[in-house]
Amino acid sequence: MAKKDIDWANLGFGYLKTDKRYVSNFKDGAWDDGAMIADDQITISECACVLQYAQTIFEGLKAYTTEDGRVVCFRPDLNADRMIDSAKRLEMPPFPKERFLEAVAQTVKENMDYVPPFGSGATLYIRPYMFGSNAVIGVKPAEEYQFRVFTTPVGPYFKGGVKPITIRVCDFDRAAPHGTGHIKAGLNYAMSLHAIVDAHNQGYDENMYLDAATRTKVEETGGANFLFVTKDNKIVTPKSNSILPSITRRSLMTVAKDYLGLEVEEREVFFDEISDFVECGLCGTAAVISPVGCVNDHGREIKFVNGCDEMGPVITKLRETLTGIQMGHLEAPEGWIMEIKP
Ligand code: PLP
Ligand code: COI
Repeated sequence: MAKKDIDWANLGFGYLKTDKRYVSNFKDGAWDDGAMIADDQITISECACVLQYAQTIFEGLKAYTTEDGRVVCFRPDLNADRMIDSAKRLEMPPFPKERFLEAVAQTVKENMDYVPPFGSGATLYIRPYMFGSNAVIGVKPAEEYQFRVFTTPVGPYFKGGVKPITIRVCDFDRAAPHGTGHIKAGLNYAMSLHAIVDAHNQGYDENMYLDAATRTKVEETGGANFLFVTKDNKIVTPKSNSILPSITRRSLMTVAKDYLGLEVEEREVFFDEISDFVECGLCGTAAVISPVGCVNDHGREIKFVNGCDEMGPVITKLRETLTGIQMGHLEAPEGWIMEIKP
């Protein structure tokens, strides 16, 4: 086996086709055995439920090369659980947890040559997803589904890597109370496309969404949860039923408490109080923890004093500790790492 000839250090967050993908079909009330295939194209009915009514969900996780050359995934069991929650909410048949883990492991294993080397700054992004595949014209769930997993090597989600980004308070909503914001449904991302294009056109890197009901509380961005740092080094993260329960954010809360001895608070965060925080970060699989330097609220700039121009000290420590665990030079809590043998 030889690693592919890829300029790992200069990869952005984009799609690059790899050799193999996993596919399993659901028909007549059961999932088939599943298989690894080479074909990256999908042929489905013009009237497939996914095409007409957006019945699709997905997950995102990564495979890392550790310093001693192993390939590992970070907490894939939580992705399996979250995908089951997403499936239930969209009336789709959950893909069994054990099979999800096997499918992820098999897909990484058969694309080992695309797992970026240790120290390259890149990782192998893994995308499990599922969609309603048979023709449906009345509004109802499909009866047939496809579950797939593909991989693609990626670099940093935000251009510039770890430079603090500037975001704006968004006038569009991402998720309704009692809606689908807490699951990973493709429809949530379709909702955010106009907002992100508009943000980019205005010169911002991302949107800060507020709660749709009162527009007074901080929710999340289009693809990551928020973490804030107080003057006395406490970590504060928004609690809401309409944000995605980020695995990275939940892990960082443990890292903050158990590795760094910091106090952590998960609670409602009012937009009015964010100028009291000294650092801000966006956390997610793709974002890792990316620093936010400034939030623009309709022309008023709120700058995080310890993290405007460079990543602040607490976010830096959190990032180093989390990536240390993921890359294998810090001991992980029990069950956080799944090794994939070649
Ligand atoms: N919030 C949204 C809307 C996301 O799309 C993601 C990405 O998965 C996250 C948060 C971060 O979640 P995780 O840390 O599980 O990747
Ligand atoms: C991830 O972090 O894995 C995501 O799915 C976010 C997505 C917006 C790229």
